[in-house]
Amino acid sequence: MFLQSVLLATFAFSSSALAAFGITTSGNDIVVDAGSDNAFKVTVNKNSCDITSILFRGEEFQYQSTGTHISSGLGTATVSSTIVNSQYAKITCTTSTLTHYIVIRSGDSTIWMATNTASEPSVGELRFIARLQPSKLPLEYPFGSVSTTAGSSSTVEGSDVYVVNGQTRSKFYSSERFIDDYTHCVYRDDDAVHACMLLNSYSYERSSGGPFFRDIDSNNAGDSTNLYFYMNSGHVQTENYRMGLHGPYGLQFSRSGIPSGKTMDTTFFADLGISGYVAPSGRGTVTGTATGGTSGLQKVIHWYNANDQYWVYADSSGKFTSPPIKPGTYTQVFYQGEYKLASSSVTVSAGKATTANISGSLPSHTTLFKIGEYDGQPTGFRNADKFLRMHPSDSRMSSWGPLTYTVGSSSLTDVPMALFKDVNTPLTIKFTLTSAQASGAATLRVATTLSFAGGRPSAVINSYSPATPAAPTKIDSRGVTRGAYRGFGEVYDFAIPSGNLVSGSNTITISVASGSSGDTYLEPNVILDAIELYR
Ligand SMILES: *[C@@H]1O[C@H](CO)[C@@H](O)[C@H](O)[C@H]1NC(C)=O
Repeated sequence: MFLQSVLLATFAFSSSALAAFGITTSGNDIVVDAGSDNAFKVTVNKNSCDITSILFRGEEFQYQSTGTHISSGLGTATVSSTIVNSQYAKITCTTSTLTHYIVIRSGDSTIWMATNTASEPSVGELRFIARLQPSKLPLEYPFGSVSTTAGSSSTVEGSDVYVVNGQTRSKFYSSERFIDDYTHCVYRDDDAVHACMLLNSYSYERSSGGPFFRDIDSNNAGDSTNLYFYMNSGHVQTENYRMGLHGPYGLQFSRSGIPSGKTMDTTFFADLGISGYVAPSGRGTVTGTATGGTSGLQKVIHWYNANDQYWVYADSSGKFTSPPIKPGTYTQVFYQGEYKLASSSVTVSAGKATTANISGSLPSHTTLFKIGEYDGQPTGFRNADKFLRMHPSDSRMSSWGPLTYTVGSSSLTDVPMALFKDVNTPLTIKFTLTSAQASGAATLRVATTLSFAGGRPSAVINSYSPATPAAPTKIDSRGVTRGAYRGFGEVYDFAIPSGNLVSGSNTITISVASGSSGDTYLEPNVILDAIELYR
């Protein structure tokens, strides 16, 4: 009897003590103990829905000055808690515009969540932010210190691009394309504690922007280390926001290795009475083969309608199977890289695999020269390997130019990935044609991925100046300076009447047209995808 008590007391002070799974309330606190091997205890404020404490193996990881929450906190919410099936602690937070669910499973160390929105939060974006202690979780995965702004010495742009140790840093440089973003984390090395956001196709189905959208993932900001799931935002928004159930998504605490969001199983949400959740049994799939496209470029299939969105990579032979999709009629798009080749319509029914092949290819014509590939990205051009993770003014960037590209002898890096009105225009292209090639009309195609501040290309072909294109649809957001490149992907064709190309040496210059210029990298600019002369 005496020995047992001593043993119990000893265990009670050990961080690996197995406490009982359950919810206790005290004052404003709803405390969930997961009863896990790796002790996991989470406190939620019952007036605000803020997570105010996250104890993992007995250690506090929650930043103490601010909570972990939706937006910058819901302020006031109606918060209730219950145990479901003896194994799930479910906390439901309701405001006039949304219901946020927090679920902790017995024996687990993950905060599972889903957020059902009736309208966009008044801050104009929908995000979850975990504010954690930077001294305990200083590092960021997968992109490392590019978004670690702690210790900054100055600001480069706005209040979100900083200089740290001579390098430009921003939370925006942590972004990853939705199609590749299943797991992002903050962590420490010494005993490998990770806090990771886990995302799957359910997490993104009510987000906005498609497979190539990217947003802030993590930021060690100095006072707190922030880990995010941006469900939608105005950060280069190209599509309307979707309302309804966003999720499930998870915030997992773990010891070793990076957990996988891609393979996580969230089907237990079917047992939890979550409003808006559609279980796998209520969904269907689309299978098919995508044919055509430029060999060597990845094939991506994307389904969307006003309610939901999904995507998948096709394999090298073009075969694809969608994730579980809610019933409905969708636009099905086939991209090579991120360049749209074809679209069709497909109707999905619950419990059914629908077959929907799709084929697409670039228009066929005679190419006189082509610089870059139509892949919807500035791949291969100068600084394309850097701009996602640093500001254009960063000293690690190669010179922006103005540059000259000579067809046949230059490399792709002799074309800048972006043309800024007064920084690096014109881009000069030199090429030679035979008399047969020079005869007749031709077209100069300039494919872009994003326009900023009304920027669009203007061109001069030898002494011929075609009309300047009209300004494209404006996206009210900074672009390349915070690592964004994907907008509406405007493609401009400049018709060149017969007689303007010559046998021998020819010169084309490309500049940026726009009403007014700003300053340096916030001038009107365009990001280049490919440039082609054809007939
Ligand atoms: C879809 O493509 C596959 C592979 O090319 C082919 O075997 C199948 O017959 C096609 N199905 C339809 C409905 O066209």
